[in-house]
Amino acid sequence: MKVLVTGGAGYIGSVTTAALLDAGHAVTVFDNLATGHRAAIPRAAAFCQGDIRSKEDVASCMAEGFDAIVHFAAYIEAGESMVDPGKFFENNTCGALNLIESAVRHGVGRFVFSSTAAVYAGQDEPIEETDPIAPVNAYGATKLMVEQMLAWYRQIHGLRYGVLRYFNACGATGELGEDHQPESHLIPLVLQVALGKREKVKIYGTDYPTRDGTCIRDYIHVADLASAHLLALDALAARETLTCNLGNGAGYSVREVVDAAREVTGRPIPAEETPRRPGDAAILVADATRARELLGWQPQIPDLRDIMKSAWDWRSKHPEGYDR
Ligand SMILES: NC(=O)c1ccc[n+]([C@@H]2O[C@H](COP(=O)([O-])OP(=O)(O)OC[C@H]3O[C@@H](n4cnc5c(N)ncnc54)[C@H](O)[C@@H]3O)[C@@H](O)[C@H]2O)c1
Repeated sequence: MKVLVTGGAGYIGSVTTAALLDAGHAVTVFDNLATGHRAAIPRAAAFCQGDIRSKEDVASCMAEGFDAIVHFAAYIEAGESMVDPGKFFENNTCGALNLIESAVRHGVGRFVFSSTAAVYAGQDEPIEETDPIAPVNAYGATKLMVEQMLAWYRQIHGLRYGVLRYFNACGATGELGEDHQPESHLIPLVLQVALGKREKVKIYGTDYPTRDGTCIRDYIHVADLASAHLLALDALAARETLTCNLGNGAGYSVREVVDAAREVTGRPIPAEETPRRPGDAAILVADATRARELLGWQPQIPDLRDIMKSAWDWRSKHPEGYDR
């Protein structure tokens, strides 16, 4: 297939681009490099630099003709979305609308969308796709609106779409790893502390109703996320829509992640306890039964220490992240 990957210079998009190329697809990456890295785009991919908020940029890239779009491009900082929501609605929701409109106009058959666990409010039990949808931050709301738009575009224009709701992406493949600026994700942050690039890691909130008072999340390896996108593209040959959670179904608290990092790196990793941040749910753990059953998806690197090790290997080789 000829696949357009928006956000293919970013963390999950670059790993998925590499997986699509390995599977024999022709890939064009569309990215404005706002948070992504030119060096992360696999060499065998074509690159179209542009912005999803620009109808002209989107139209000129789409003129090439694609069988499918995998749409990663977005701003991802839930905390920042609670300070500047407009920035997020404009990029994540309006940008996605430009892309979806253009996909329909150019007869693109399949559209796979990066959604998020942030569409759920969070609950004690693993979350199923049918559980209540109630974002606690504006970022989650931007993604939910795109999910809703896709449902209308299927009904009205017949666009086939897959919604993949990722829990916490983490880990690295040999060449490709996580390098966000600024970084807000726990695993890269603790590894930067391990490398001496940061003094300490902050633990936001120790009074949540969880086993040790810190937030619990489901950590899923980026290569396992990538494989789900390939399966979703295949599944859309036979199905008109699919919506699946992607996670391991095991939750780890912030303290447990910091402890795992201390174990894997052999470094002390000082931590500072601070008050809660707005927009953080207490517990977000996936029930990914549907992805297993519908897509035949089976995560290959479910163990937190293996995930941590892959991230540590990459960080140790790239202490400053990608070349800028
Ligand atoms: N990282 C996670 O844990 C996680 C969890 C759930 C969902 N997601 C979703 O997965 C997707 C990818 O996340 P990531 O961690 O790889 O983020 P990332 O920031 O590494 O990648 C996003 C990419 O999109 C590009 N981009 C942003 N705005 C753009 C625009 N207007 N036009 C063109 N390109 C633009 C950036 O330059 C970057 O390369 C996002 O949609 C995010 O919401 C991520």
